[in-house]
Amino acid sequence: METKNLDNRNYMPRIGDIAPSFSALTTQGEINFPEDYKGKWKILFSHPADFTPVCTSEFMTFASMAEEFEALNTQLVGLSVDGIHSHIAWLRTIKEKIDWKGMKGMEVKFPLIVDISMKVASLYGMIQPGESETSAVRAVFFIDPQDKIRTIMYYPLALGRNFDEIKRVIIALQTADNFSVALPADWRPGEEVIVPPAGSCGVAKERMDGEDNTLHCYDWFFCTKKISKEEVESKLGK
Ligand code: BEZ
Repeated sequence: METKNLDNRNYMPRIGDIAPSFSALTTQGEINFPEDYKGKWKILFSHPADFTPVCTSEFMTFASMAEEFEALNTQLVGLSVDGIHSHIAWLRTIKEKIDWKGMKGMEVKFPLIVDISMKVASLYGMIQPGESETSAVRAVFFIDPQDKIRTIMYYPLALGRNFDEIKRVIIALQTADNFSVALPADWRPGEEVIVPPAGSCGVAKERMDGEDNTLHCYDWFFCTKKISKEEVESKLGK
């Protein structure tokens, strides 16, 4: 278990950092994170507490999308500062009793970390005392197959996350890597992608002069090209 910074409440991993390592007990047994998920994308997310309504709605939504994340070669790992018995009882209640928005019998098969000591939550900057001293905020860390943190989201206790956006981010990150492009506002697969400027005025002028007819340039610094939804989908999860 990595120990550095555990006592520093101000410590927060940043985009571009290698995901801090830890070992932890989960509802699926012991895990070593991120080492156990070599070659995969990982979504490490926290929630404030078991047996709370917003968290329940989030877990049911994630469980209902589990196959979609699997197809994207993405491992989900949850965390709260509750114990193993609470986690197991809560997930059993979700499966056996909760029928919400057409979701029922939802089985959470991804690991849910036990973090009563708050060691992992502190390591990932999930305890944000202005919001709560005693529970994690709703954090989402998107970690690539090289274990680099690529996107971080934080939501407050009272606001459930947008799971379509979480899926869109994973698809967009994989698209950016596979095609060496950037993605414009609200991008969805099949829409035009941004071809970053090559960094020299000569190249920019060539782009504007239309010498590359696969490009559509709005100005010298803003050129796009089409990648079909099928092309994007053929690369996802790779
Ligand atoms: C909830 O998940 O419903 C929740 C948890 C902590 C504070 C507020 C709401």
